[in-house]
Amino acid sequence: MSTHATPMPMTSRRAGPLTGVAEVPGDKSISHRSLLLGALAIGETKISGLLEGEDVLDTAKAMRAFGAEVIDHGKGNWSVFGVGVGGFQEPDNVIDCGNSGTGVRLIMGVMSTMPITATFTGDASLNKRPMARVTDPLALFGTQAVGRSGGRLPMTLVGTQEPVPVRYNVPVPSAQVKSAVLFAGLNAPGKTVVIEKEATRDHSERMLAGFGAEITVEDTDEGRVITLTGQPELQPQTIAVPRDPSSAAFPVCAALVTPGSDVLVPGIGLNPTRAGLFTTLREMGADLTYENEREEGGEPVADLRAKYSPNMTGIEVPPARAASMIDEYPVLSVVAAFATGKTMMAGVKELRVKESDRIDAMARGLRANGISVDEGDDWWSVEGCGPDGVTGGGTCESFLDHRIAMSFMVMGMGSQKPVSIDDGSPIATSFPIFESLMGNLGAHILRENV
Ligand code: S3P
Repeated sequence: MSTHATPMPMTSRRAGPLTGVAEVPGDKSISHRSLLLGALAIGETKISGLLEGEDVLDTAKAMRAFGAEVIDHGKGNWSVFGVGVGGFQEPDNVIDCGNSGTGVRLIMGVMSTMPITATFTGDASLNKRPMARVTDPLALFGTQAVGRSGGRLPMTLVGTQEPVPVRYNVPVPSAQVKSAVLFAGLNAPGKTVVIEKEATRDHSERMLAGFGAEITVEDTDEGRVITLTGQPELQPQTIAVPRDPSSAAFPVCAALVTPGSDVLVPGIGLNPTRAGLFTTLREMGADLTYENEREEGGEPVADLRAKYSPNMTGIEVPPARAASMIDEYPVLSVVAAFATGKTMMAGVKELRVKESDRIDAMARGLRANGISVDEGDDWWSVEGCGPDGVTGGGTCESFLDHRIAMSFMVMGMGSQKPVSIDDGSPIATSFPIFESLMGNLGAHILRENV
């Protein structure tokens, strides 16, 4: 359980150049899905490179509670002996998904078309987040959900005895909602169809196909139409989880804003539905190159080389790119502070319902460090101060959000004065080795407030 009961103040101060190799952990989205789909296949799914962050460990615990055998062999190597599609047992106790929206929403999808009941909860951040976006489509299969006001956790789902396949237009750009409906469709007879207007990360589609499900994806005038044939027999897989582009974003952006830096971040998944940040940084004039481009486990992968980039300029980030970099806007806004001119980020309403309201959280922290920020309901802009112009010196609230915490630690690496956060403990949800990895590159992050 990730309660983050004891806040851990942290400070990042300017150090020498960041140099060396940054081996970031496995992809969080693919790690969750590897455990979930492994739990639905019959036989042993072998996973290497699993992200051992709190979010994924909570999903591993949940899979055990639903009856799968999940074995940790150490160093990111795991085995899952699944129970088959429709084979979950009813858990004896409440399922605690900690800080993880992906964990809870995907698990709800999977169990919702099985004849079992489960109650879900999470930490203070997760228990504020909207669940109706998932339980509304799950109701179409016949699933009942009772939660707190506003469709919030804790919440009980009564899985349906006789699921029917559904056709669903996802109303928000969300891979979690899309995936929950597809995973529910696994145990419904017939074809479940999910339509998304904008492409969101497609790991579920790729992995369902990899596990042997019949799934097609068509680009039509209506949007991306995904058709899944229910009740397949999923085949266990051997999965090498690529390293997480969302985690790579932190050492990459740190190198861009810290004078003299040259950092290599090897083996990063560059699925086009995830790589929007790197395109944006290159458009801003970042010295960021892809080396050794290749394919691993069905995903495009490359080694990223990022060097100090004092000539970056602010840009308008195309709203159509938002889904492919939705988790990276916080750290992009930090880079924008070190660029010259304004960076405009529009079409990003979803940022308001993440682990925190990320527009609000970043705007507060940036302002506390002397940066000018404008914001509206679904947009925000940051006025760059140039490569040497960020004063820093502020203390920022991380609002139980790992990406807010890490973004401000990156800011302190390039700013004139140190930058502090009230609580760095949420970093362990997605990037448990963040401090040591950044420290090995030359960063100065200390567990204290200045
Ligand atoms: C995720 C989808 C995104 C993303 C989250 C991981 C996933 O959320 O922000 O960190 O693995 O499907 P939404 O689906 O809510 O956009």
